[in-house]
Amino acid sequence: KILILDFGSQVTQLIARRVRDAGVFSEVYPYDVSDEFIRNYGAAGVILSGSHNSTLEGDSPRAPQSVFELGVPVLGICYGMQTMAAQLGGKVENGKVREFGYAEVRARGHTALLNGINDFVTHEGHGMLKVWMSHGDKVLDMPPGFKLMASTDSCPIAGMADEERKFYAVQWHPEVTHTVQGKAMLGRFVHEICGCKSDWNMPDYISEAVEKIRAQVGTDEVILGLSGGVDSSVAAALIHRAIGDQLTCVFVDHGLLRLNEGEMVMDMFAKNLGVKVIRVDAVDQFMGKLAGVTDPEAKRKIIGAEFVEVFNAESAKLTNAKWLAQGTIYPDVIESAGKGKKGQTIKSHHNVGGLPEDMKLKLLEPLRELFKDEVRKLGVALGLPYEMVYRHPFPGPGLGVRILGEVKKDYADLLRRADAIFIEELRNTPYEAAIVPGFDQDAAPRNWYEATSQAFAVFLPVKSVGVMGDGRTYDYVVALRAVQTQDFMTAHWAHLPHELLGKVSNRIINEVRGLNRVVYDISGKPPATIEWE
Ligand code: XMP
Repeated sequence: KILILDFGSQVTQLIARRVRDAGVFSEVYPYDVSDEFIRNYGAAGVILSGSHNSTLEGDSPRAPQSVFELGVPVLGICYGMQTMAAQLGGKVENGKVREFGYAEVRARGHTALLNGINDFVTHEGHGMLKVWMSHGDKVLDMPPGFKLMASTDSCPIAGMADEERKFYAVQWHPEVTHTVQGKAMLGRFVHEICGCKSDWNMPDYISEAVEKIRAQVGTDEVILGLSGGVDSSVAAALIHRAIGDQLTCVFVDHGLLRLNEGEMVMDMFAKNLGVKVIRVDAVDQFMGKLAGVTDPEAKRKIIGAEFVEVFNAESAKLTNAKWLAQGTIYPDVIESAGKGKKGQTIKSHHNVGGLPEDMKLKLLEPLRELFKDEVRKLGVALGLPYEMVYRHPFPGPGLGVRILGEVKKDYADLLRRADAIFIEELRNTPYEAAIVPGFDQDAAPRNWYEATSQAFAVFLPVKSVGVMGDGRTYDYVVALRAVQTQDFMTAHWAHLPHELLGKVSNRIINEVRGLNRVVYDISGKPPATIEWE
């Protein structure tokens, strides 16, 4: 197993993730664990993460010196490289300019880490790597025993190695996908250099996670708010696997769910998996609170607050519960850590840290270290249906932010039916590879549902005139939205085939009385957002 020491970089968990991708077990620990811990851990190799710190500041963090005395390979990344240099007798200097973003580095010498991997070769015959850098300081002098492994114009010592002791260090970030060969580099480090086999996989993860949960909660009872979304569903399935009936799920139906979603959740969890689920019908309560409210932020706040209210009232009845389980995943952890420091609230998201602090429950978050695609794999491995686990994301406030202006039950009913038709047709229409800028799909999509990242209908509370049969209609409009994106921060509108759009429009207008016009949203993000509110 690989030990990753975290110096506080935002992307440390990505290192763990890439090591897992390579089929090797790894764990992240804070950099200040004791020497004793290091010696007893049994690591086959150690990776030192990046950090926002500077080794030149007096009290900046250092790796326990024992890391370098264990006799196992060590890889320093960014700050990890600088502290390795500083701790082993080299010298770090303050770079006058911060280097941030794409860079091309030249591989030097022959090292077990980089030999034979490159992205292109210059006409002088130099092997070059396309990498992602983010640093201010840099190594000025290598420690004794090290040789140069890579360089750039602005960072002459961008990589160094002491192959005798198997110490390697890179100034760039191999864990991010922008470093094209990053996966290959980390794969090499753990396989070739540390000698780990690829024998770690999802079933192993499940048994480890189950053990951890059992050890953590003992015989206590746990409650979990099930939303029907991927994260809370996978968390529920995992915790149920660990502690069975000690888990009770609370599923709040606020009337803003997709068509048949409530039934689906109850079928899947209560019927198929035998999980204890309390379904709370809070439709009237939510609709009552939302009556007359048109401002998007006000709506979001009401839905979030009401949700907490209902959930608390339900959980108060479960007097034995000591733990509150949540499907927090790693990107949520980063996102909420960054809150308040930078950026402006574009939309106040609910479900991250939305629960009040005075709740006397301890938090159980078994997915905290996983990325979305890993959570999905875990879900499938736990026996959840593929279709469910690979569903598009659905916002916490549900249809509440897809009904523009005031939310009414009638509107929600119309929208649910239109949305279900749209989704059904996307699933039923085979996808023929089209080239879409900025969208590289990992797995080949089979249909348009899989070829889009998120798709839904939006209810517009405006009426327009239509003609149906011999009669005039004066009904509402729905907009269809389908986007393609990797990270949901920027998105392209999907170039859906006209035939598909035509069919969806016909079906909606014919099948959903009360809607007589369908439009397609062709705005990108930015400047639009994915949701309409
Ligand atoms: P926007 O509309 O900001 O959405 O481009 C980006 C992604 O976030 C989802 N979204 C939410 N998810 N709670 C959530 O869990 C929320 O309050 C919320 N608001 C937006 C949106 O569906 C899209 O995937």
